[in-house]
Amino acid sequence: MKEIQLDGQSTDIAEENIQKLKALFPEIVTEGKVDFEKLQQVLGEYVEDSDERYNFSWNGKGQSLRLSQTPSLGTLRPCKEESKDWDTTQNLYIEGDNLEVLKLLQKSYYGKVKMIYIDPPYNTGTDIIYKNDFHDSLEYYKAYTGQIDKDGFQKTTNTETSGRYHTDWLNMMYPRLRLARNLLTDDGIIVMSIDDYEFYNLKKIADEVFGENNFVGTIITRCNPQGRGRKNIDPVHEYNFIYAKNISYMGELTIKRDEGEMTTNYLLRSGTNSRKFERPLRFYPLLVKDGKVSCITQYEYEQIYDGERFNEQHLAYLEKKYTSLGFQYVLPIAKNGEEKVWQREFNRVRNECHTYIYESGQIKTPALLYRTPQSLWLNEKYSNSGSGTNILISLFDGLKPFDFPKSYKTVQDFITLNDDKNMIVMDFFAGSSTTAHAVMDLNAKDGGNRKFIMVQLPESLENTYNNADKDRKKELRKVIDFLIENNKPATLAEIGKERIRRAGEKIKEENKDKENIENLDIGFKVLKLDTSNIRKWQPDYDNLEQSLLEYIDNFVEGRTELDVVYEIMLKYGLDLTYPVDEFTIAQKKVYSIGFGMLMICLDDEITTEVARGILAKIKELSPESSRVVFKDNGFKTDSNKTNIKEILKSGGIEEFITI
Ligand SMILES: C[S@@+](CC[C@H](N)C(=O)[O-])C[C@H]1O[C@@H](n2cnc3c(N)ncnc32)[C@H](O)[C@@H]1O
Repeated sequence: MKEIQLDGQSTDIAEENIQKLKALFPEIVTEGKVDFEKLQQVLGEYVEDSDERYNFSWNGKGQSLRLSQTPSLGTLRPCKEESKDWDTTQNLYIEGDNLEVLKLLQKSYYGKVKMIYIDPPYNTGTDIIYKNDFHDSLEYYKAYTGQIDKDGFQKTTNTETSGRYHTDWLNMMYPRLRLARNLLTDDGIIVMSIDDYEFYNLKKIADEVFGENNFVGTIITRCNPQGRGRKNIDPVHEYNFIYAKNISYMGELTIKRDEGEMTTNYLLRSGTNSRKFERPLRFYPLLVKDGKVSCITQYEYEQIYDGERFNEQHLAYLEKKYTSLGFQYVLPIAKNGEEKVWQREFNRVRNECHTYIYESGQIKTPALLYRTPQSLWLNEKYSNSGSGTNILISLFDGLKPFDFPKSYKTVQDFITLNDDKNMIVMDFFAGSSTTAHAVMDLNAKDGGNRKFIMVQLPESLENTYNNADKDRKKELRKVIDFLIENNKPATLAEIGKERIRRAGEKIKEENKDKENIENLDIGFKVLKLDTSNIRKWQPDYDNLEQSLLEYIDNFVEGRTELDVVYEIMLKYGLDLTYPVDEFTIAQKKVYSIGFGMLMICLDDEITTEVARGILAKIKELSPESSRVVFKDNGFKTDSNKTNIKEILKSGGIEEFITI
């Protein structure tokens, strides 16, 4: 049995990287340090050490890289009151700076997120870009979100004349993308929206972080068909870069055909020649199976058609042969010159396929319904006003709580590039929670069970108000008043949560006749970024006795047991949506997480009876393995602690942890 003392730090990524290197090249690590020269020798001719090598750099890049490796000293505190369906939901809404949050999620969600969608601040000159603080990121966060008063703290927009315009944005994005990549599954993808201001910088850092070879493509969406009223060239589009975690594991990306497309373009494009109707000499009869259309062989064709007539007998034979193989249609179409004949037959196939697709309702994923996505998306549904702003305004009964939300239909089409209906979808620049809306709506439509993780700063709306023009100020004042009337802080995170509540109910209502709609997950667990629940040992050396007394209880004042339970779950990499059950064993409260995978008792005066009770519970739940956590000062005496350890060890417990 391993014995561990927990501290208040998240995963040490640099240390884990060293362990990975050590596993590959044991000779390069001595006393926990990497011998760089040896590493170069090991890599031989693959090392580029010229000063003029191709690279992309900016002021602060090195520091940003280190920042992405330093552990977080924070935690995520559960907030049941603001959550919905706490006990059952698989969705998460996390309030906080996404850099800290991504660090904290490294263990629980490493390699678990199949799709990340982000729409970061575009750095248009009027955005406030969250700065990285290298000294005390949590203190900075609290000052930024107005939770503490900090003298002279200023939030100013990142203007083009600031001298650090692109640099600040790059320093904000780079460490976040590095951390985000770790969370992707091996076959996962990230989609990143951006416009002209930073698209070249985003491409450069994404190439570096994800690898140029993992660049899948760019989709251009006409998201703003009415334009922005700019002189010379008025942009109506945005870019969406798609990268794979590892392109060789990524499944084929597809998109559902629109109805109109299905009746006109499809058959022209089936088979090997995309426009067969223009090449009648190479035109063959069609076979249709599960919505897929293919052709019979040349030999078979010659058997049934002699250039003038169809041979009915052979045709009957072929029909029998192919229907026994599961094909629904065998449709001979004239080969040469008889345009009218094949045109008529062609129309018949087209119509029949159409009926088949729409009426049978049994087709799962026929090729006919999907195609390879193209790089230009012009459909009206991608307009940010129609399926973005207008949807949001109607959900908020006429209020306009957020500027420039994305069309949830655009995000839906990004999500379904991938046919996994059970995946985790993450958005760590969540804004008004468009991505959560898209996920719930999709699940309602196709019976999927996708889960979402939203991350959003509790950015003050007063701040947005101060930077807004006169008309927008009027609208924002109404939004702020609405939140205050409902006893909520006037922050963007409140808008994000409220949208999920409202959109979820609406989606359920709209789909109330669908089978199993009662199981649609429209809930979410709220977690909030804060400093660790475990105190840092910072004694007052002039008053050591007093300090020692204060540190007897090593939890920060005001924190609940549930706060500590979630911090331990993060440390041990448990899914934050695992059920947390509570039991009383020998008058002490015991938490069981993930049906006995982790047992936590934070009470005082733990007895051997408690340890035996915990063992019995673990036996009953029979998890694959189990860890048990107590408070370091929860034991009466040292010998009591030793006895408890022995009991757990003999019961086969893998780890005994104190905190
Ligand atoms: C362009 S908006 C996203 C809009 C969103 N796609 C929608 O449709 O509503 C970017 C969001 O990222 C948030 N944000 C900026 N910096 C952040 C940070 N460091 N951590 C978390 N959220 C951040 C901003 O508050 C803003 O809401």
